[in-house]
Amino acid sequence: MKYLFLIFFINFLPQYAGKSLSRDGNYPKTFEDIKKEIAGYSSIAKAIIDLAVHGKAQNRSYERLAVFADTIGPRLSGSKNLDAAIKYMFSALQEDRLENVHLEPVKVPHWERGEEFAVMLEPRNHSIAILGLGSSIATPPEGITAEVLVVTSFDELHRRAQEAKGKIVVYNQPFITYSETVQYRSRGAVEAAKVGAVASLIRSVASFSIHSPHTGWQNYQPGVPQIPTACISVEDAEMMSRMSLQGTKVVVYLKMGAKTYPDSSSFNTVAEIVGSKYPEQIVLVSGHLDSWDVGQGAMDDGGGAFISWEALSLVKDLGLRPKRTLRLVLWTGEEQGGIGAEQYYQLHKKNISNFDVVMESDEGTFRPMGLAFTGTDEARDIVKEIMTLLLPINITDIYDTADGTDIDYWMRDGVPASGKKVVCISEWEELPELSFRSGTEPQI
Ligand SMILES: *[C@@H]1O[C@H](CO)[C@@H](O)[C@H](O)[C@H]1NC(C)=O
Ligand SMILES: *[C@@H]1O[C@H](CO)[C@@H](O)[C@H](O)[C@H]1NC(C)=O
Ligand SMILES: *[C@@H]1O[C@H](CO)[C@@H](O)[C@H](O)[C@H]1NC(C)=O
Ligand SMILES: *[C@@H]1O[C@H](CO)[C@@H](O)[C@H](O)[C@H]1NC(C)=O
Ligand SMILES: [Zn+2]
Repeated sequence: MKYLFLIFFINFLPQYAGKSLSRDGNYPKTFEDIKKEIAGYSSIAKAIIDLAVHGKAQNRSYERLAVFADTIGPRLSGSKNLDAAIKYMFSALQEDRLENVHLEPVKVPHWERGEEFAVMLEPRNHSIAILGLGSSIATPPEGITAEVLVVTSFDELHRRAQEAKGKIVVYNQPFITYSETVQYRSRGAVEAAKVGAVASLIRSVASFSIHSPHTGWQNYQPGVPQIPTACISVEDAEMMSRMSLQGTKVVVYLKMGAKTYPDSSSFNTVAEIVGSKYPEQIVLVSGHLDSWDVGQGAMDDGGGAFISWEALSLVKDLGLRPKRTLRLVLWTGEEQGGIGAEQYYQLHKKNISNFDVVMESDEGTFRPMGLAFTGTDEARDIVKEIMTLLLPINITDIYDTADGTDIDYWMRDGVPASGKKVVCISEWEELPELSFRSGTEPQI
């Protein structure tokens, strides 16, 4: 049902997103005019809702995603599966009779996990579930056997720096929010290496665990030795922490066979419905096609990618043509740090004044609750008004700030020279880890 959010913005939001409300006519529009215009779309909104929720398109995005995920499987950056996924989508978007279906080249990292495992040897034998982190180096072929040093924060690591040399640092940081706690995963290895550790194991960045380690990207730093690094389950991190507090010596054997290959060729996948009145102006909807290697990528981000596609399909099926071009971008290399989105931004930012709204969906596909929004106060008022069109399905909430790796470049740099502001929207469902980023007013 989430795709419903996307499409109501196509016709009327962008022209009011900037400072001026008079782009379309000769007189400045009042908020009352805007309200009236938005209300004028209620029958179109109803048609879209009917088609998507009750009509022939009822289960379409789910069914499309199921076949895709079951057919292709995991889609790690640099893998043959990701190439296959891009080919698959290129054909599928053409078969859906969308316009300007094309691929835009991107260079993406190519890292492979290889064989990996860990065992606690002291005080007792215990198999530790691990998932190596993207870009981690391997251990030596014979593995690493070392005592662990358990810390709960970077502060504690720095206080106990003397004890870290030659050890495996285990981070047992509490989970606060994803965006705050994830720094232990992204720079845990670097901080541990700075104080002489030989490897780092990080409690998975999760509020809940069923002996299930997570994976994710991590970054090495020039000039700091590279050490192998992996996530462990919340349970194992807690146990090693308890053992250490008891004064018990904990020894772990770690073996990882990860490999980094030269960057590989990949693509962002693009399709459009070209606008009737302002074809050069863009309303962008997006999700990422790549995934991690240890799942099917159905949630992250198959769901987001397929509901973004669905937005175009619904508009097309109803024979609607938006005033502005509705552009679907399926990013590549998101999990490696938004690589596809960054290269897309670099290539297209010279036309930033043509981008009216940039949207992404990458927070999982659950029961929809609203939109997260970053933009001017005027634009926010308009979004609020537009959301009233979703009353029939009770989805009217607006959250403070759009959030997402793939739209971050636009949000950070969202003010073009020509006087129009890019409005950024992500869909919000369950986890509100959003902080407000207000843009400066455009200079006309
Ligand atoms: C969608 O799926 C539901 C549950 O599986 C089913 O009852 C319904 O008939 C399906 N609708 C269509 C249009 O296929
Ligand atoms: C623990 O595991 C090691 C190596 O796998 C093995 O040599 C040793 O006998 C085991 N110890 C116990 C008490 O099971
Ligand atoms: C920028 O916009 C112009 C005019 O719409 C278009 O012809 C051109 O292809 C665009 N360039 C890029 C890099 O998107
Ligand atoms: C509408 O949604 C809100 C929260 O988003 C919920 O509290 C409320 O119960 C819902 N109402 C109906 C009729 O489903
Ligand atoms: Zn994602």
